[in-house]
This record gives sequence, structure tokens and C-alpha cells, in this order.
Amino acid sequence: MDEPLKFLFAEHQRQRQASFILDAIAGGAFDDDGVRNLVKFLDQDFVDHVADEEIIFFPLLKKQCQPEDKIEDLLSRLADEHREDELVGDHVVDSLRNLLSGRQLTASDKKRLTIFAKHIRQHLAIENAILLPIARVRIDTDSLMFVSEMLKERRAR
Ligand SMILES: [Fe+2]
Ligand SMILES: [Fe+2]
Repeated sequence: MDEPLKFLFAEHQRQRQASFILDAIAGGAFDDDGVRNLVKFLDQDFVDHVADEEIIFFPLLKKQCQPEDKIEDLLSRLADEHREDELVGDHVVDSLRNLLSGRQLTASDKKRLTIFAKHIRQHLAIENAILLPIARVRIDTDSLMFVSEMLKERRAR
């Protein structure tokens, strides 16, 4: 967390892995520990990550970006996608919990898992390809130190 942009990127890598696990589960391959870890990740780290972006990064980017970055459009698109992820993610976590209690996934559960997985990958690809490069250029060193403190503070609660 001392290097916030690297931290964000690392979280995206973990989300990517989680998305592949979602695909595997939808394909019928799973073990209980794997599903349990995935539920924990989606319930906690994934939710924290969205909040880090919306509470800390997005407002800072809005402040430090130049008009030619057209950041407002990008941020509102990403925030819309976060809302979608929250809705679908809740359903996904419910069906994963059902799976742990011995109930099979229905065809529509499986479909939802793969749609969610694809959505996660597509979202983080945009953030890695567009958002992070802009952030590297626009967010100054002092602000990065402030971000680092905020990230730690949010987790200390
Ligand atoms: Fe995001
Ligand atoms: Fe992200």
C-alpha cells in the first residue's frame, strides 16, 4: 500500500485470477476451500477495492486531471459498472454459498458466473489500460502519499 498504483494493479491481478476461478466453477470444477476463499475475496477485498477507487482515487483524479483527459466520462462509466458488479456480485455470492451448502448450481447461476467473470476482466482491462496510465501521469507524489495513508486507514478500522 506504500505504492498505491502498484497496489491497485496487484488487486486487478487478483480479480483476474478470481474471474478464472468463477469460470472454472461454472464449468463444474470446484473444491470447497476454493469456493470459500473466493466468497471471502468477493465479499471483502473486491468490495474494498471498489470503495478505494470511488472514495479515494476517483475524486483525486477528478481534481488533478486536465480537461483533455476526459476523465469525467470514464469515471462515470466505471462507476456504473461498479453498480452492476455489486448487483450481480450479490447473486453470485449467494449461489456460491448455496454450492457450499450442497445445492447444485442451476444453468442460470452458471451463466451469471461467467457473465460476471467476463465483466470483471473487461472492467479491469479498461482500468489498467486507461485509468492507471492517466493516474501515473496526473497524481503527484504528495497525493500518492496521502492515498497510501487513506488506504491503510480504511483497513485499520
Ligand atoms: Fe473499478
Ligand atoms: Fe479496479
